[in-house]
Amino acid sequence: MRGTETIALCGKGGVGKTSICSLMVKHLAEAKGRKILAIDADPASGLAASLGVGVKKSVDDIRKDLIGKIKKGEETDLTEMLHMLDYELFDALSESEGFALLSIGRPEDEGCFCRVNSLLKDIIHDLAGGFDCVLIDGEAGIEQINRRVMKSVDHLIIVSDTSAKGVSVARTIAAVARENQAVGCRTMGLVLNRVRSEDEVRSIASNIDIEIYGYIPEDEVIRQYDFQGRPLLTVPDGSAAGRLSADIAKRFMK
Ligand SMILES: Nc1ncnc2c1ncn2[C@@H]1O[C@H](COP(=O)(O)OP(=O)(O)OP(=O)(O)O)[C@@H](O)[C@H]1O
Ligand SMILES: [Mg+2]
Repeated sequence: MRGTETIALCGKGGVGKTSICSLMVKHLAEAKGRKILAIDADPASGLAASLGVGVKKSVDDIRKDLIGKIKKGEETDLTEMLHMLDYELFDALSESEGFALLSIGRPEDEGCFCRVNSLLKDIIHDLAGGFDCVLIDGEAGIEQINRRVMKSVDHLIIVSDTSAKGVSVARTIAAVARENQAVGCRTMGLVLNRVRSEDEVRSIASNIDIEIYGYIPEDEVIRQYDFQGRPLLTVPDGSAAGRLSADIAKRFMK
C-alpha cells in the first residue's frame, strides 16, 4: 500500500491558491477510495469557506490553550500533553463529504514554545498518516508550511497568475524548494491561473524552468461562485475551470 501523499500549494498572495486547492479537493474527493485531508495553513483563511465547511477550532486555538495551561503550571506531564493534543486535534477536524479539514489558524506569536510547536507538528504528521492524500493551502512560501504544518511535503504546486510579479514569486519559491533538501519534495510544478489566452501560457513556459502542470482560465463560473459566496465544490465539471482543474488533479490520482 502507498503511504500518504502530501501536496502543498504555494504562490504570491491573491493568485488563486485557495480556489485551486478547493477544486483539487473536489476532484480528489470525488475519485472514490481515497481519504482526503485538506489543511488550511493560510492565516487569512478562506479554504473552509471555499469548501463550505465550518471550523470549530484551529490548531492555533489548541496551541494557545495548552500554552496557557503550561504558564499556569497546570500541564507539565509530556504524556498527558500528548494525549490531550491528540484528542483536541482529532476533535478540531471538520468532517465533510469525502474529505476532512484542519485549520492551522494564525501564525505563532513571539516567544518560543518550541516543545509545543514540535509536538503539534508530530501530531499533525500522525493525523495525516490516516489519510491517503493531504492538500495544504499554504501561504506564499514553503518555509511557513515547513515551520508550522509539515516537516516535508511530497509535491509542491506553485500557483501564479500571468503577472510578471506572480511568476517572479513562483521562481523564488521553486528556487527555495530546490535548495531546501529538508522539504524533500519529489515533484514540483506550476499552475497558471486567470489565463486569458494560450499565448500567455506559451510565453511564460518559454521563460521558466518549472514544469507547467496546467492552467485555469479567467473564469466566469469562479467569479459568480465568489460573488454568491458559494463553495467551489459544486463547480460544474463541464465548466472550463472544472475541466482543467480535473486534469491537474489526475496527476495525483495514480
Ligand atoms: N480562474 C479564476 N477566474 C476568476 N476569478 C478567480 C480565478 N481564480 C481565482 N479567482 C478569484 O480571485 C480571488 C483570489 O483567489 P484566491 O482566494 O483563491 O487566491 P489566494 O491565492 O488563495 O489568495 P490569498 O493569498 O489571499 O490567500 C478570489 O476572489 C477568487 O474568486
Ligand atoms: Mg488563500
